[in-house]
Amino acid sequence: MIVVEKRADLAAAREARAGRVAVVMTMGALHEGHAALVRAARRSADSVLVTIFVNPLQFGAHEDLDRYPRTLQADLALCEREGTDVVFTPSPEVVYPEGPPVVRVSAGPLGDVLEGARRPGHFDGVLTVVLKLLQLSRPDVALFGQKDAQQLAAVRQMVRDLDVPVDVVGVPTVREPDGLALSSRNRYLSPQERQSALVLSRALGARDLQTGRALLAAEPGVVPDYLERVDSTTFHPDPAGDLVVVAARVGATRLIDNLVLPAAAEGRRP
Ligand code: PAF
Repeated sequence: MIVVEKRADLAAAREARAGRVAVVMTMGALHEGHAALVRAARRSADSVLVTIFVNPLQFGAHEDLDRYPRTLQADLALCEREGTDVVFTPSPEVVYPEGPPVVRVSAGPLGDVLEGARRPGHFDGVLTVVLKLLQLSRPDVALFGQKDAQQLAAVRQMVRDLDVPVDVVGVPTVREPDGLALSSRNRYLSPQERQSALVLSRALGARDLQTGRALLAAEPGVVPDYLERVDSTTFHPDPAGDLVVVAARVGATRLIDNLVLPAAAEGRRP
């Protein structure tokens, strides 16, 4: 495995790879969810490139950019263990050599609903860095976790609308045995908060939205934000939608999760 920090070294490493190249973009603090992404990448390509970059552009002024976990040595060990070929760990100056970009990708309507409405500019920041990292790494396939379902939908929309030559693959969410979706932000949770956070997956599995919302509201230490059934492309509320999404604050930590409704459960009306 080689680790590169500069654009020229990434370009040389990319040039040296024959066959299909897959990219897994991350902000580090890697966990088994990322490991599953790398494994899926290995199955879909000849070489795997992982990017580790905490993108300032996608954090709001009062969000956790400064305290976002940075665990580079452990991240590199995970990448090595999972058979990554190239890791790109650029600094902000490498990604944004002229400072914050003046021209950015707009997420459009997806940037205004649910996570987009709560985090103004977040998806514009995500798509801007995703497009830049795609340009720099020129992969054949890019893999994203289903856990960040709205991000995945926004990336798919960008790739369609801007004719970006890459296949986008969504990889199912990895959960702890008790149902907690893996997230880099889980490490902020105290043991008690971690226990309370289980209510998110319980709410997703409730028989209807009303019951799920009542579960969230009754959980001590949890401030519910939304529990909605939506269309997984537009993220508009839809009683026949194929996705249930949830967000809540657990202590000081905002968590999101979702449940893809299987075709077999088409008649279900949470
Ligand atoms: O999902 C993430 O970790 C980030 O949003 C991504 C896609 C790496 C862009 O910074």
